[in-house]
Amino acid sequence: MKFALRIEKEIKRSTCLYGFDFDNFDGTDFIEIIDDVLKNNNEWNYKSNVKGKRTENIFLENPSFKAIMTASKDYLSAFTGLLNPEYTLSDAYGIRLDRGDWTANHRHGQANVSGILYLTSSNQKLFFPELKLHVKPEPGRILFWDSLLRHESKPNLEDKPKHAIVFNLHYAAGQYLEYIS
Ligand SMILES: [Fe+2]
Repeated sequence: MKFALRIEKEIKRSTCLYGFDFDNFDGTDFIEIIDDVLKNNNEWNYKSNVKGKRTENIFLENPSFKAIMTASKDYLSAFTGLLNPEYTLSDAYGIRLDRGDWTANHRHGQANVSGILYLTSSNQKLFFPELKLHVKPEPGRILFWDSLLRHESKPNLEDKPKHAIVFNLHYAAGQYLEYIS
């Protein structure tokens, strides 16, 4: 056989990341839920790119988390159409990174938009190598990014665990024409 086509090259594409802070945020209830679930279920711990503790998708139907997503959509819509297409929340799970836990370089190519809601303050920053950007976790800080963006975290060097909720969303078919065949 012989190649009919063989094209290997870098192409430029646009990408995005938005982050903002909720005022007077209290993540205590979310943290309690994550820690409670992790007491009885360690199925996801150290099994994914999160080299730490991870729950199943326990926040998909959580009213407080859904309210945060709605408020985020309202806030972001003044700046970008990122969350304006109808979408389905496809993942929403808790993570806890204790001392020594880290996150491997990865991307969420299975989704359209990915994000994280930080519940605690931590010096274990999230790094986006393609953007050369470090983001410091603070309670109530939420990030939304193009799911193809790579990200990672070096090991947590503090005794204080980092808690967060990670989420992915998919645009509904037909809502964002560029994304469907
Ligand atoms: Fe991730």
